[in-house]
Amino acid sequence: MGVLAGRTALVTGANRGIGRGIAERLGRDGARVAVHYGRNEAAAKETVAAIEAAGGSAFAIGVELGLPGDAEALWEEFDRHADGLDILVNNAAIGSSRPIEELDEEEYDTVFAVNVKAPFFLVKHGIPRLRDGGRVINISSGLARTAAMPNNMAYAMTKSALDVLSRDLSKVLGPRNITVNSVAPGIIATDNTYELLHKSEDAWADAAALSALGRVGETADVADVVAFLASDGGRWVTGSWVDVTGGSLT
Ligand SMILES: NC(=O)c1ccc[n+]([C@@H]2O[C@H](COP(=O)([O-])OP(=O)(O)OC[C@H]3O[C@@H](n4cnc5c(N)ncnc54)[C@H](OP(=O)(O)O)[C@@H]3O)[C@@H](O)[C@H]2O)c1
Repeated sequence: MGVLAGRTALVTGANRGIGRGIAERLGRDGARVAVHYGRNEAAAKETVAAIEAAGGSAFAIGVELGLPGDAEALWEEFDRHADGLDILVNNAAIGSSRPIEELDEEEYDTVFAVNVKAPFFLVKHGIPRLRDGGRVINISSGLARTAAMPNNMAYAMTKSALDVLSRDLSKVLGPRNITVNSVAPGIIATDNTYELLHKSEDAWADAAALSALGRVGETADVADVVAFLASDGGRWVTGSWVDVTGGSLT
């Protein structure tokens, strides 16, 4: 039996990329997984099928985040499938890589709505559903702590805000033995970084060189850390910012 047997997890943005890696890993560890997606239902169904093929249990829920009432809509959908929650992973997010001179208010508002407002209200409305001893894991970014890519400033600002949510919420939920942490990846090969990693012949090697370990990160590098925090082994880690950048910030 997996270490998360009997637990229910919700992973936002779990139809592809890092979220899919996390959902599949938590599913392998025995959790029943709510695979959230925004638009790509077919990919969410593939993730559910992959979890089931590995012997796990999962269901898909689709709600676009960043719109008024998104959190309530997501939980309403969740409640149709499950009765309570043990692990909430706020993973869904969008990037923004425009220099400040070119960034308009619309893009600023959108990136904050999806990356900050949505997880805040998902947590707010999720608290009554979260069982004691549970976990909240917010997927941040190494960019919250380095000025290496200033064109991503607005995006990095959203991740810093998410980190404050992790820090302060850990105090709010601590009395219920619920841990709250940020997990901060470096460059991971996903759709999100495809352009960055393929913009020139040397782009992949340049990205790999940023890491002390000399390679580009994989979704499993993040999923394994999330799985640890979600397990009983992570019980004494809360309010933390976990660097999963492969040493890119050192
Ligand atoms: N990749 C990296 O190098 C890297 C580095 C540091 C941090 N991160 C963080 O890791 C997380 C995952 O990144 P990723 O690279 O896996 O991203 P990705 O491949 O672009 O996937 C994004 C996911 O979020 C969902 N999503 C995006 N906007 C949404 C919206 N408005 N409503 C609902 N769902 C939405 C997408 O669902 P649909 O497909 O249905 O739209 C998709 O599942 C993000 O928080 C990101 O900031 C990534």
